[in-house]
Amino acid sequence: MCGIFGYKGKKVKLSCLLDGLQRLEYRGYDSCGVAAYNAGNFLCKKNSGKITQLKTNLKANLGNQYSLALLHTRWATHGQPTKANAHPHKSFKKNIYMVHNGIIENYLDLKNKLKGKGYKFKSDTDSEVAVNLIASHYRGSIEKAVFSAVKELKGSFALAVFSESEPDKVVGVRNKSPLLVGVSPQGYFLASDLPAIVPLAKEAVYLKEKQVVVLDSNKINIYDFQQKKVKVNKEKIKIKNEEAKKKGFKHFMLKEIYQQPKVLQDALNIYTKKNQINFNQLKLSKSYLKGIKNIFITACGTAFHAACVAKYFLERHTKIKIEVDTSSEFRYRDFNVDKGDLFIAISQSGETADTLAALKKAKKQKAKVLSICNVLGSSLVRESDSFIYTPAGPEIGVASTKAYTAQLFCLYLFSLYLATIKGTVSGREKNKMLEELSRVPFHQRKILKQTRKISAIAKKFSKMGCFLFLGRGINFPSALEGALKLKEISYIPAEGYPAGEMKHGPIALIDEYRAVVCIAPMDSLHEKMTSNLQEIKARKGKILAIINPADKAILSFADQAVYIPKLKFQEFSPLLVAVALQLFAYSVAKNLGAEIDQPRNLAKSVTVE
Ligand code: F6R
Repeated sequence: MCGIFGYKGKKVKLSCLLDGLQRLEYRGYDSCGVAAYNAGNFLCKKNSGKITQLKTNLKANLGNQYSLALLHTRWATHGQPTKANAHPHKSFKKNIYMVHNGIIENYLDLKNKLKGKGYKFKSDTDSEVAVNLIASHYRGSIEKAVFSAVKELKGSFALAVFSESEPDKVVGVRNKSPLLVGVSPQGYFLASDLPAIVPLAKEAVYLKEKQVVVLDSNKINIYDFQQKKVKVNKEKIKIKNEEAKKKGFKHFMLKEIYQQPKVLQDALNIYTKKNQINFNQLKLSKSYLKGIKNIFITACGTAFHAACVAKYFLERHTKIKIEVDTSSEFRYRDFNVDKGDLFIAISQSGETADTLAALKKAKKQKAKVLSICNVLGSSLVRESDSFIYTPAGPEIGVASTKAYTAQLFCLYLFSLYLATIKGTVSGREKNKMLEELSRVPFHQRKILKQTRKISAIAKKFSKMGCFLFLGRGINFPSALEGALKLKEISYIPAEGYPAGEMKHGPIALIDEYRAVVCIAPMDSLHEKMTSNLQEIKARKGKILAIINPADKAILSFADQAVYIPKLKFQEFSPLLVAVALQLFAYSVAKNLGAEIDQPRNLAKSVTVE
């Protein structure tokens, strides 16, 4: 993970550079730093903690202008989040500065070799080894030193480097970690991700794997690792500059929970017209879609839970065999995908390393790749044969909320589209389901109106030391997602389980100190759920039930209940359950005074493997 931000061009204020870095803070926020230069003036400052801290430390310098800079926000891999381990790292000899995103796998070998040559190290990082390796090759040309060093580096790395002896030049490297260049009349910006440069540049150059960019005297040159010059392809930046503001909400997470009805309405406006689902922009022909043999879906974290919900719906309505796995497992399995199979990768950021690796593996086996993604221009979208854009807009809170329901919604729509093409769902049935989907934003608003009630319930539950989330069928993944939301922002141990599995082990946990959140809308598995809950009650577990109104059976023994509207097609209930569980997790974390938008140890975009 980690965010790299760099600049080379006419003078710009330090505050502008730090703002750019701050737009990458979702990639990591445990420490940060800057090295900047202008006409003999040199600045280097680092600290543990967030960029606001760095801004405070640099208060007196914010108006100063610099023509060259490297900045970094870190998510610790090697070494604790201390000032010494923060980037930029300076080489022991030759005054070279570098920022790094990724993992240098052979850093210990290299470190020992460099130590043998008299190099000394101040940090525990793999990154400091890389900058010293570059220094060991430096003979007056920073790009030549970089070309030599990358031959010895193993692992994933995006680097940005400059030498104090050549203060007119910044060199960037991409190898399995993203890096792009923003082009503006002022100069060139280097960044790990597009959002950092959107307000600053109109065009971007996306570095490809194993490429080196040299920004020198207002020129841009790109080379492959064999030092062969390659064509510079500038592309117009199409995404809008949407400033991230909380707009009256206490946290981005709460704002994003509240945005969900609007996001789903936007998805309806984009992908449906007069009762027809329109995915005609897909670069997958109808005859191909009709002939799909198997569908493989892969994703990580919350996006994986969206994939799990989709499996239930897709296999039921398209009759296609569906396989779902987390990307970090999928990519190492000996799976056999072939031409007639569709591979779907789901990701909010489009930069998740494991999902990208799984996608590349499937592509190698000739499967068609469809990505479902929230960031246009992301690596995932660029690598896919076709994509469905989830119109959630920038998601700033680290815990995914609106991107999840947008993924679910698009997956429901795509499933119905596919089922219609295959003829496994009648036009009448599809219309009825579409009608129901179009009412989901309205139903979600009803749940949002219960925020106060949910936060009062959360207060009662926030002292519980452990939570189990239970669901069945299409709401089993909702249980997984509810547990993930709670643990990542409140740090309370929580586990999602299929309710029917309780008696095979987890019921041993239940006593009056355990909280059990039961997702039990009135669907075909409702009676089974009711029995499971009675088993919990008999063992004095504290039950919070997520149920439809007037569910007297469960209400008679649940300790607390949150109501979700009853749908004609309960298969869509995960879209409602998610909102209730997000509000619950948010309220518990708020009660505990946790840092909701940027929970400890996490980052928004996981670009390490
Ligand atoms: C949890 C969360 C993560 C992400 C996961 C995948 O709230 O946000 O679990 O879902 O890291 O990220 P993307 O969707 O960007 O691939």
